Amino acid sequence: MVRHFLDIHRHDGETLRAILDDALARKKARAGWPKGRVDADAPAKDRVLAMIFEKNSTRTRFSFDAAIRQLGGASIIANASDMQLGRGEPVEDTARVLSRMVDAVMIRANRHEDVERFAQASSVPVINGLTDRSHPCQIMADLMTIEEHRGPVTGKTLAWVGDGNNVCASFIHAAPKLGFTLKIACPSDYHPDLHDLARGGSAVHLTSDPEEAVNGADAVITDTWVSMGDADYDARMRALEPYGVDEALMDRAAQDAVFLHCLPAHRGEEVTDAVIDGPRSLVWDEAENRIHAQKAVLAWCLAG
Ligand code: CP
Ligand code: NVA
Repeated sequence: MVRHFLDIHRHDGETLRAILDDALARKKARAGWPKGRVDADAPAKDRVLAMIFEKNSTRTRFSFDAAIRQLGGASIIANASDMQLGRGEPVEDTARVLSRMVDAVMIRANRHEDVERFAQASSVPVINGLTDRSHPCQIMADLMTIEEHRGPVTGKTLAWVGDGNNVCASFIHAAPKLGFTLKIACPSDYHPDLHDLARGGSAVHLTSDPEEAVNGADAVITDTWVSMGDADYDARMRALEPYGVDEALMDRAAQDAVFLHCLPAHRGEEVTDAVIDGPRSLVWDEAENRIHAQKAVLAWCLAG
């Protein structure tokens, strides 16, 4: 079986736990090292990762490239619009060709189905680098960040405030697998996908009231109100206006609560400067941890 990493709900809790533990250990083992030095075990030695981007990216692009280098491998990066894929070459044919040329593929795609089709046709591991439906690598980095600062996520309560989007979906997928509670506050028109909510089961609670979700939470998390590909900008800004995270809302969370945001942030919209730049914010560690979490994901995929 090829080890794809397409969605968190496809993996069991033990696998996710092992990936998180590896990420934390790899980060610790290279503290103080130059960023280009290869990890002692070099699990991607002689391996090549291809990255395909159908949408913009800063963190995913740089962190995957840094990750594969730190694992001892190399990368090839392309925007889909520069590939024949962008002129209509079938996803499946692209997957068959790249499977002959590289050892793993990371894709950021507009349509989740395209990543699933790519994986079906690929004989090398495929990693979801964000789609309209989910962002599993982001959530692995986020959970790693919480654990780095506050210990195991199991038993904790995380609050998601804002759009019930792709990033929220991956948190929903993770909650029952890793045993944390997820309280989501969103406007009724922008709730998470119902299939995802069903996957979350009793680990996930939905409300329209931000204060109710944040009350006593160990972490408060938000994201942009308008994701890449969303068309209804004005309606979103109106509906989500009451869901901004400010210091007053943070004060409702647990005393040692942390703030996370996958970035890019829209300061003054979903989060205030005071929160994102404040003492409870872990957003820069969270961004760095994309490298460490994805190294563990890559190592797991390549070990298959
Ligand atoms: N958080 C995240 O995925 O950022 P990029 O869009 O910059 O990759
Ligand atoms: N929800 C955002 C995340 C960006 C990293 C988007 O899909 O645009």
